[in-house]
Amino acid sequence: MIGPMDLQLNERVFIVSGGSRGLGFATAEVLVAEGAKVVLIGRTEATLTAAAADLGHDNALPLTGDLTDPDLPGRAVASAAARFGRLDGAMISTGGPPASRASDTSDEAWRDAFESVFLPPLRLARTVADNLAGGDTPQGTRDGSILIVLSTSVYRPLTSLALSNGLRPGLANMVRDLAMDWGTHGVRVNGIAPGRIATDRVFALDARSGSPEAVRRKREARIPLGRYGDPAEFGRMATFLLSPAASYISGAIVPVDGGATYID
Ligand SMILES: NC(=O)c1ccc[n+]([C@@H]2O[C@H](COP(=O)([O-])OP(=O)(O)OC[C@H]3O[C@@H](n4cnc5c(N)ncnc54)[C@H](OP(=O)(O)O)[C@@H]3O)[C@@H](O)[C@H]2O)c1
Repeated sequence: MIGPMDLQLNERVFIVSGGSRGLGFATAEVLVAEGAKVVLIGRTEATLTAAAADLGHDNALPLTGDLTDPDLPGRAVASAAARFGRLDGAMISTGGPPASRASDTSDEAWRDAFESVFLPPLRLARTVADNLAGGDTPQGTRDGSILIVLSTSVYRPLTSLALSNGLRPGLANMVRDLAMDWGTHGVRVNGIAPGRIATDRVFALDARSGSPEAVRRKREARIPLGRYGDPAEFGRMATFLLSPAASYISGAIVPVDGGATYID
């Protein structure tokens, strides 16, 4: 008989990049609440240290660094091993690209965005997957899980987010490609596509056009559930996908968008 749902996250260890705020931190909160440990990555030491303290020093190790640094993934994997003695996967979030229209985005902006939005998640995923597939884990199984934060721009273009519209569909395809490469090594790779989740980044984007309240009301009117998502709602889905409870889900891109993606 099938038993109750158990996320089986107790004592598992995950790298959470972009972990000091927003979607990354919300996921870290749920992971820790479910018994997991996290290595949190972010650039701003003070914010990162405070976030790790909120999660409890026994549960969270802060690792200050910039994901555009090619050495950071290796440091993160080594930190997980040194502090917690194992690694089970990664939740990969990072800062989003600046707003711009397709018609006025410069070559330089495209190159910068490739270096900050596309390559760092791919590099971290590769390094973590290599590590997960490369040896016997203390728990005796290879059931690693990697989750990359994308955007609903993978389904259709978002107004004034040309860099996301151009790069994230490619990253979504890399999620599927990595899932093919690593599946037989027991490593699942998935993507998660937030719509409008109430984080600092979304508030900043809304404030660009004048009244953030008016922008929010207008956007909420186009979401079937009629509201922005709470970071915890994102964090719960991310945690499920990272957990062994999602053991037959790989190469999927899961929207967390209140139903907004498929309405016109
Ligand atoms: N919120 C949404 O509804 C939504 C929707 C679609 C897509 N997304 C995407 O999801 C991602 C996260 O969004 P969010 O709302 O959580 O953003 P956020 O609130 O701005 O948080 C971003 C996090 O990433 C860290 N970070 C940024 N750049 C970094 C870098 N180069 N190296 C290491 N850490 C870095 C930030 O800390 P530091 O600044 O201290 O480094 C922070 O912890 C973004 O890529 C965004 O475009 C979000």
